[in-house]
Order: sequence, then structure tokens, then C-alpha cells
Amino acid sequence: MKGLILSGGKGTRLYPLTYTRAKQLIPVANEPVLFRVIRAIRDAGITEIGVVTGDTGTEIEDAVGDGGSWGVNVTFIPQDNPAGLAHAVKISEDFIGNDRFVMFLGDNVIQGGISSLIEQFAHSQWDSQIVLTQVPDPQHFGVAELDDDGDIKRLIEKPKNPPSNLALVGIYMFDSSIFEAVKNIKPSDRGELEITDAIQWLLTNGHTVHPYIHTGWWIDTGKPLDMLSANDHVLDEMVHEVSEVADVDSASEVGRRVTLQPGARIINSTIRGPSIIGDNTVIENAYVGPYTSVYHDCVLKNCEIEHSIMLEKSQISGVSMRVVDSMIGRNAIVGHTTRLPKAIKMNLGDYSNFWMP
Ligand code: G1P
Repeated sequence: MKGLILSGGKGTRLYPLTYTRAKQLIPVANEPVLFRVIRAIRDAGITEIGVVTGDTGTEIEDAVGDGGSWGVNVTFIPQDNPAGLAHAVKISEDFIGNDRFVMFLGDNVIQGGISSLIEQFAHSQWDSQIVLTQVPDPQHFGVAELDDDGDIKRLIEKPKNPPSNLALVGIYMFDSSIFEAVKNIKPSDRGELEITDAIQWLLTNGHTVHPYIHTGWWIDTGKPLDMLSANDHVLDEMVHEVSEVADVDSASEVGRRVTLQPGARIINSTIRGPSIIGDNTVIENAYVGPYTSVYHDCVLKNCEIEHSIMLEKSQISGVSMRVVDSMIGRNAIVGHTTRLPKAIKMNLGDYSNFWMP
């Protein structure tokens, strides 16, 4: 089997972070979401992976390289315009050939591995397997209607009146019949070739599509709150580890379920888990509360932070109020000044958010 990861899109709902960075490269528990997807596919025994890229292609290529760091071979497949998930499949036909394959959206985070699912599909006669999960807002997703036997009756993309609360999760398995399907569908109202319509075409034309119902958590990390929630889940479930080359002074208190990455320095501070502190990050006279990921080369001094994600090389210092529920971008500085007038001074990027209590 081969793997196909879709890693295009503008990530507008994550502005301003995604003005300057591909959304798939935003870290959750200090690992970019896209890297987690590559690992999940690799752990299922797949070594040939295609990555479909869009406007942020160069950045994705630089970050992923040839895939050698995961022991896989990565082929990049540029998509000129974001014409839909089924269009991404269409342009990947040369790469996939006659193999069966798993397609994974590069901004999705899902509980547990997908190894058993992929294995099940690899040894089956099904033409496709889709993953479904119950959601409170099915109108925002592709939705499946099942019959009494649990087989798929129909699939519909973002229905106004959803026939069920079973959404299509961003993981799909196909054989080469999907290439015929994507050539036979028309663009949707939003002008995209929808993968949901292509799978419906498979059903209508007598192909077998097997539904798998996922009961754990699954997050499509489109918005900042989704990112924080994915971060919560991953921090909760990961095996935490304090690096031998992290440094904690005797005045500090590091709680349970805390990961300290190599070169992290904790000085006169309290760290409560689950949380992760990245390589060469310095925490001094500070409190880092649960569900916080601080990426590499950050500085936190004389401040408190909780339930937040800090990207690389960002800094918070001398802020008397606790920072919560926040995402701080690369090289961002949240600081303190004694210079009058005593006022808030900002240098916010386009589409930034700032909330006062
Ligand atoms: C896409 C699919 C949709 C699926 C969703 C999962 O939606 O079109 O069927 O449920 O991914 O994340 P989009 O993110 O393009 O709105």
C-alpha cells in the first residue's frame, strides 16, 4: 500500500499564524501535525508516501525533506489550485499507480494508530474504506447515512439537513477504482471536486465501500481552539520523559507528566503536567500550568502560562496576569515596560486577536 497526505490549503481560520506558516506545520505537543500523520502512516508499515502541496509547498518540502528522518520515501505532488480533495487524488494517479492506498488529511489528529485499519483494508476485497465518527455539527462535514445493517446508504457533503451525525473523518482508503470516480464527478457548489461525491460515485456504480466507526477523539485542526484541544488530548496520552540533558535547579518544582526536551532549563519555576518544554527553552521565575506546550528556543520569565501553545523562539516576560488559552506565534514577544504612559502597547499582525479581562 501507499500513503497520500494532503497538505495544501491556506489555513485562513488560523490567521495570523498561518500567514507565515503552513497550518500542517503548527506543532501540537511540540511536533508539527503533519509529522504526526507521517509517523502514523509509517507505523502502519507504509514506506511510499506522496504529499500533495499547495501555496506553502516550499515550506512543507523544506520541513519534510525526503522522508528519511522517518525511514520513508516522500514524493511531493504540487496542486496548482485548491480544486478539492478529489482533484488531489486525480493528480496523484501517476504516483499511486495500481496500488491500494490510504489518504490522510495533513491537518487531522486522531486518537490511536491507524495500523489495524490499514491492515484490515490491505487484506480485504473492499474497493474503499471510510472512517466515520459522531459529531455535534454534521452540517460542516461530509455525512454518511447508514442502513439497518450498518452499510452505507448514501454520502453527502456538508448537508443543510444532515441525515445523521456521522461525519467523514479525514482518513480514506481506496483501490484504483477511485481514479475512475474522480474523473466522473462535477465540482460542487463551492467549486471543488469533493471526495465525498467520488465515494458516492463508487457506491452508485456497485463498488464496495466499508464504513469504520471511530469512537475515540478526532480533531480537524482548522481553528485555534481545535489546535488547543488537540494539544490537550496529545499531552494527556503521550508518555512523558525528562531528558538527561535538561536542567532543573533545586528551587524548581517539576510535576508529573512533564516532558523536558534536551537543553530545556528550569530555574526557580513550577511546571505542572501534562505539559512539554522544548529544546533549549528557558523558564525562569515562572509558572507553566497543565496543557501547555512550549516549543524550542522560547523564553518565559516572571510570568504564568496555562493551557496554551507557544511556537518556537517566542518569549513572555514580566507579565503579571496569567496567560491562558493562547497561541503565541514564532518569535512573538509578550513583554513588560516601565516606561510611561502606563498603557497597553501593541504591535499586532493582521488578523491577530487580543483580549483584555
Ligand atoms: C473535508 C471533506 C469533508 C470531511 C472533512 C474532514 O472538508 O470535504 O467531507 O468531513 O474534510 O475534516 P473541508 O475540510 O474541505 O471543509
